[in-house]
Amino acid sequence: MKSYSIALIPGDGIGRDVTAAAWTVLETAARNFGFALAGAEFPWSCRFFKDTGRMMPDDGIETLRGFDAILLGAVGWPAEVPDSVSLHGLLLPIRKAFVQYANIRPHRLLPGVTGPLRAENFDILCIRENTEGEYSGAGGRVHQGTLDEVAVETSIFTRAGVERILRFGFEQARTRRGKLASVTKSNAQKYSMVFWDEITRKLAAEYSDVAVTSYHVDALAARMIMAPESLDVVVASNLFGDILTDIGAAIQGGLGYAASANINPDRSAPSMFEPVHGSAPDIAHLGIANPIATIWSGAMMLDHLGEKVAAGRVMKAVEAATARGIGTIPGKDRTEAITAAVVAALT
Ligand code: IPM
Ligand code: MN
Repeated sequence: MKSYSIALIPGDGIGRDVTAAAWTVLETAARNFGFALAGAEFPWSCRFFKDTGRMMPDDGIETLRGFDAILLGAVGWPAEVPDSVSLHGLLLPIRKAFVQYANIRPHRLLPGVTGPLRAENFDILCIRENTEGEYSGAGGRVHQGTLDEVAVETSIFTRAGVERILRFGFEQARTRRGKLASVTKSNAQKYSMVFWDEITRKLAAEYSDVAVTSYHVDALAARMIMAPESLDVVVASNLFGDILTDIGAAIQGGLGYAASANINPDRSAPSMFEPVHGSAPDIAHLGIANPIATIWSGAMMLDHLGEKVAAGRVMKAVEAATARGIGTIPGKDRTEAITAAVVAALT
């Protein structure tokens, strides 16, 4: 029997609630579909930071490297630890160290879920560059605290980085409806974004079976709301993808449904699966967080591990639950009830 080692990082706030829920579903999937999951839980979080002064131990990355995949809940407890510290101490270093350059975020309405739009039949796969661009972390501040203070934060776009994320998008488009939207702001940003557009055109010639359109990010943001059915695969830089995927989450009914996978396509290090939402400290541990985004992320993890049948069945089980109205109205069903409904449908 195949066995996969999974590092569990529940993190902060509702991250703990939804990771526990998703793990219950994943363990059921393993039992039902003939594979094993060996989970190891790590307490790395803002609480851990308060106790130790670090978000994870010095050898945290090396510890994680040995796992087949990572399932993460959420990071952040802004009342106690600034987000700029907690995220740069845990989530962002993992994405970079393990070259998880493709952040994949599916946006579609689950059956029974009502979104804010009239459009119901959209199915968008956002692919966000996840290791460089505007979130490279290159910059600094000088003359701090004085009137002469300067803050600089430089975007870094490399040919290798842009080409690999676009290539990944083209490959995804081939397995779907064959359409790719490449997102930039090359009318205003004349170096990095013109560079991105050029690489898009170069690859488009190579993937002549994929229909490519370049959009400016502002126009694409509007399109996701006005004409989401017209979109298939969307590829964007780190910052643009971050913003667009919150629009994606909104049009699919909310952050409770928005799943995400931080993929290392070369498989040279583990990939990480996490909901798009944050730690929501205000509702932490009340048992009312929606676990669907994390369960969906867990299904993406199974798919990545090669357990395609189980991944598909987990999604069918989620859909069976939401089709019955379970987990479709914020606050109506408890985390446990939604989890139980998915488990019951998982056959
Ligand atoms: C996300 C989040 C993170 C990101 C934050 C918490 C750093 O917003 O996963 O979308 O921007 O990557
Ligand atoms: Mn975000």
